[in-house]
Amino acid sequence: MRALTVAPGTANSAQVDDVPEPPRSDGAVLVRALALGVCGTDREIVSGAYGWAPPGERRLVIGHESFGEVQEAPAGCGVKAGDRVVGFVRRPDPVPCPACAAGEWDMCRNGRYTERGIKERNGYGAEFFRVEPEFLVKVDRALGDAGVLVEPTSVVAKAWDHTERIGKRSRSWRPQTLLVTGAGPIGLLAALLGAQRGLDVHVLDHHDSLEKRRLVQALGGTFYLGAITGIESLEPDIVMECTGAPSVVRGVLGRTASSGIVCLVGVSSPGHALDVDVGGFNRAMVLDNGTVFGSVNANRQHYEDAVAALRRADCAWLSSLITRRVPVAQWTQALEAEPDDTKVVVDFS
Ligand code: BGC
Repeated sequence: MRALTVAPGTANSAQVDDVPEPPRSDGAVLVRALALGVCGTDREIVSGAYGWAPPGERRLVIGHESFGEVQEAPAGCGVKAGDRVVGFVRRPDPVPCPACAAGEWDMCRNGRYTERGIKERNGYGAEFFRVEPEFLVKVDRALGDAGVLVEPTSVVAKAWDHTERIGKRSRSWRPQTLLVTGAGPIGLLAALLGAQRGLDVHVLDHHDSLEKRRLVQALGGTFYLGAITGIESLEPDIVMECTGAPSVVRGVLGRTASSGIVCLVGVSSPGHALDVDVGGFNRAMVLDNGTVFGSVNANRQHYEDAVAALRRADCAWLSSLITRRVPVAQWTQALEAEPDDTKVVVDFS
C-alpha cells in the first residue's frame, strides 16, 4: 500500500513509498484512510527539525490528523465496519507516569510518550492504518469531510478546557472578550469554540485574506490585520496565541484585562532572544492575577469535546476551512504553503 514517509532529521526526504500492510500490533481496528490533514508540525518534520522514526527504523510514516472508515473491528469494541473514525495522536509512556496512568497522556510528565506520525510511532498517512479501539473516536457521517478537523479541534478543545479550569479559580470569573492571534486552522477553530461560548471574538493575523475576514465575521467576530500594537485598546480576558511567532508571543504577554489568561498554543522554534521587560511583565501578572500557560495535545475527553463542537458548527463554515485537497501521489505539494491556504489535506478517497 502507499504511504507518506520521511527520514526524520534529514531535510526534504518526503516521498510516497510502497510499504507492507499495517501490523496487527498497531491495533485491532483496520481503517481505510479518507483524508489526512497537514499542519506546521508535519512541515517541521519534513524540514528535518522535528520528528523521530520508530526505534530501529530510518523512516517514519508521517501524518497525525487522521480521518478514515473502519474496514474491520472486533465485535463489541465500540465501532464497526463502515463507521468513520479519527485516531488519537499520543500514546502513554511505558512507565507510566501518574498523568499517563490516569489517561491524561497529553500531560505526560516524563516525556517518554510516543506520537503517531511524529514521535517513534508510524502515523496515519497510509492507505490503510490500524489503531487500538481505545485510541480512536467515532465521527458522525453528518460531519462529512470536516472529520479531518477533529484532531486540530481536539488540541483547541484542550486549550479551552484548561483555560476554563484556570478561570474558575475565581468564583466570579465571567470572561467576555477573546483575542486569538493567528487566523490559521488552529486560530480559526479556537475562535469558533470561543464564539460557541458566547464570547466577543477578535482575531489578529499578519496576512490579509478576504476569506479569513469572512470566516471570522461569520462567527460574529472582528478581524484585524497587522501587529498587536495596532489593537492596544483591546483588553481581552482570554488570549489564545496560535502563531508561535516570537514577536507575537512577546506582544501578548501582560496584554490582558485583570485576571486575564494567555494560553500559548502555537509552538515557536528556539533561538529568538527578544527584549522583554521582565519587571513590567511580572508587575502586570502579579498585580492583576494574570496567567500565562502552555497547552499541547489532547486526551479522549478533548477528542469527544471536539466532535461535539464540530457538530454544533455550521457545516459550510467548516468545509471552507479546507482550502486545498492534494492527491496522494502529489502529497509533497501539500507541504508547500500557498498564500490562501487554511487547512490543506491529502485526499486518500
Ligand atoms: C499535534 C499534537 C502533538 C504536537 C507535538 C501537534 O501538531 O497536533 O497532537 O502533541 O504536535 O508533537
